Amino acid sequence: MPTPAEIRFIDTDLDQIAVTTGKIAVFVDMDGRMDAAGRKLNSLSRKAVERLVATDAFERMSVGDLMTIGYPAGLAADAVCVVKLGRRPSVAEARKAGAQLAKAQNGHDLLVLAGTSPRAADIALGLALRGYHFDTHKTGEKPAPGKVGFMVADPETVAKAAAPMAAVAEGVFFTRDLTNEPANVLTTDDFAARLAAMQDLGLDVEILEESELAKLGMRTLLAVGQGSDSPSKVVVMSWNGGKTGDAPFALVGKGVVFDTGGISIKPAAGMEKMTMDMGGAGVVAGVMRALALRKAKANVVGVVGLVENMPSGSASRPGDVLRSMKGDTVEIISTDAEGRMVLADVLWYTQERFKPCGMIDLATLTGAILIALGHENAGLFSNDDALCGQFLKAAQAEGEGAWRMPLGKPYDALIKSKIADIKNTGGRTAGSITAAQFLQRFVKDDVPWCHLDIAGVAHVDGETGLAPAGATGWGVMALNRLIADNYEG
Ligand code: BES
Ligand code: MN
Ligand code: ZN
Repeated sequence: MPTPAEIRFIDTDLDQIAVTTGKIAVFVDMDGRMDAAGRKLNSLSRKAVERLVATDAFERMSVGDLMTIGYPAGLAADAVCVVKLGRRPSVAEARKAGAQLAKAQNGHDLLVLAGTSPRAADIALGLALRGYHFDTHKTGEKPAPGKVGFMVADPETVAKAAAPMAAVAEGVFFTRDLTNEPANVLTTDDFAARLAAMQDLGLDVEILEESELAKLGMRTLLAVGQGSDSPSKVVVMSWNGGKTGDAPFALVGKGVVFDTGGISIKPAAGMEKMTMDMGGAGVVAGVMRALALRKAKANVVGVVGLVENMPSGSASRPGDVLRSMKGDTVEIISTDAEGRMVLADVLWYTQERFKPCGMIDLATLTGAILIALGHENAGLFSNDDALCGQFLKAAQAEGEGAWRMPLGKPYDALIKSKIADIKNTGGRTAGSITAAQFLQRFVKDDVPWCHLDIAGVAHVDGETGLAPAGATGWGVMALNRLIADNYEG
């Protein structure tokens, strides 16, 4: 896989086209027009590109799609990828074209004739993101990743535009790797160690161990992890690229490295998917990585609760009552509604310690959000229209789906407990809303807050636009943009 930083932007040299081996990509607009490099390629290949463009098949292609001409005469290359793309494509179209190139590249070297395209960097980003794969646990020979070069009119300008995008893509890859990793590898210890390693990038990373969490009174978080042999942890990552003294923006993540359901154990079929239940924490980690790599001019703190939800003789049980760090008491109805127990304490701790100017939590919180929104949109819940609007705008710009869902006092009736202040499940109806409503109990009224339920978007069985099957890294690009557009400079 070419990491985005490995994609080279090179000077236009039309003489290279005839002798380039591997694959060559050319962009053709809706009317069949090409730039100078494309025309050169066309004439060298004895008008093979032109002939393809004249077919009904080209007519039927949508923007960003491609067709391959195999073993073209007149060229050293063994394939030409003809991509349909206007001369001023949208960001989404450019990224889609890049993603199609990643699939067509398939390990070969690739020369992309991008000429004067104003979106060359976005095409490269799409190529890098879709070129990702997770093969650390495959043995046997792994094909060498093909080299990718973009032949452009002004390599320096394109490389400059691509640099912050490469930082974000590295963040997305970090999130995907964490989320794809099995739970015997990504234990709470291993997760914390991978976060601590980001100190090399200039992040402050602090790991709070169980004894400290107990002292802080994080009893609802500790209750989730107490059945596991892996110790529970809270990890705080700080990026201080803004003005000293300015309140940070806070990102909070659910990091359940494996969710068996605990004593309220899940059915066996499909349980292996619960390795992704740390996806929220994974996104927080990926955003922090991207911010550090591109040296963002903002103060941002990322706080993740890392636990494993296991059944055992020391596990918590349905009926247990716990006093949260905030002081509210919680009755456990289902030990499988563990994410909200983790977040209750982490949200409270984050507000008490950092007094953030805004706060967004991410969690693979409910199966119900999959029923409501499928894999296309994350559920967005918020107490603040302005922050909510900022997020939706950023998500839209990055092509990451999010849909606002309601919060409201009437739902509180569903999570009223007979013996404690609140219970951790609200029955079958409005499952994602009662979960969000539970979280809101631990959010101060004057803190602008969004909750993102990413259970449907963090990990998808089939491929999505910019990701192969598996972890998507959904949210890293939107949150990076939210910070860039609203909390920097
Ligand atoms: N981690 C799950 C939610 C989930 C489900 C994530 C499917 C990804 C895919 C969460 O901890 C959970 O078990 N939620 C329960 C809540 C219920 C017990 C109130 C659920 O959704 O069934
Ligand atoms: Mn659960
Ligand atoms: Zn869970």
